[in-house]
Amino acid sequence: MKKWLAAGILCALCAFWLCGCQTRPQALEPALVLGFSQLGSESSFRIGNTKDIEDKARQYGISLMMDDANQKQENQINAIRRFIAYRVDVIAFSPIVEEGWDNVLTEARQAGIPVILVDRTIQTSDHDLYVSQIGADFYREGVMAAEYLLKKADDLGLDRLRIVEITGTENSTPMKQRHEGFMDTIAGDGRMEILESVNGDFLRSRGAECMRYLLGKYGSDIDVIFSHNDEMTVGALPEIEQAGYVPGRDMIIISIDGGQEAIDILKEGKINCIVECTPMLGSILMETALALKEGKEIDREIHPAERSFSDYDDLSALPPRGY
Ligand code: AHR
Repeated sequence: MKKWLAAGILCALCAFWLCGCQTRPQALEPALVLGFSQLGSESSFRIGNTKDIEDKARQYGISLMMDDANQKQENQINAIRRFIAYRVDVIAFSPIVEEGWDNVLTEARQAGIPVILVDRTIQTSDHDLYVSQIGADFYREGVMAAEYLLKKADDLGLDRLRIVEITGTENSTPMKQRHEGFMDTIAGDGRMEILESVNGDFLRSRGAECMRYLLGKYGSDIDVIFSHNDEMTVGALPEIEQAGYVPGRDMIIISIDGGQEAIDILKEGKINCIVECTPMLGSILMETALALKEGKEIDREIHPAERSFSDYDDLSALPPRGY
């Protein structure tokens, strides 16, 4: 009995020491506080982008205030105002549309908080409202999509291609620049004819609706579908099949993003080409924010390297995409 008592007292002393008396490690000071306004979660690109930014903030010891604006510009403006009130060190955001940011970004500048644009850009006449834009070269993405189509047309000996375009969110940078890059590249090629461009808002459900509408109007006249993101493409495919066509064979399907789901469909042959748009911008963002805090010079525009995937490639050894 005495032995049990002695053991019990020893355990209690150990527990006391472990819980209360040892020197606890101090919580590390964050390298900086970063407020980030994400525009929403409309696509696997976006979800991958949010996760990457959260992961990289942790890795870089940066305290992250993340806000999801649920596809509304006013929510992004409110989030930026909260970041200013909180006096974060750096503000970053992915602008849902290009216009309408001058007032809130002037407030950030007056508060001495630098702003980084992530993924998309804005229209402003005031050059100093943001310090850097980190994101894809969307114009180049449109060019790459069109270059694939021109090569395909040559290789198949096609002399007429009637194209429908399903675009992303109206007035967003990727929507405008992908459209321009694609149209500029096919311009002057007499084989290419645009039947119609419709807006699918980067959403899977809208991709399906747009495709239903286009098939109803043009049916078998459609030779090519250029869709501005994987989400809308994946929404459109069942509509094409239900209408009795084989995507990837009866109609050439070109998409943008390169998420795992779409890459798997490309391997099945139902998508012909996907231009990559990488959401993995977290490391560049954290390094840029740290450089800013240290007062270093940073580049005004930072574009990650991107490629395309198509039915010309052997993708059997492609590593998992991570989004
Ligand atoms: O801004 C990048 C685009 O936004 C992606 O291509 C799309 O999937 C996303 O919603």
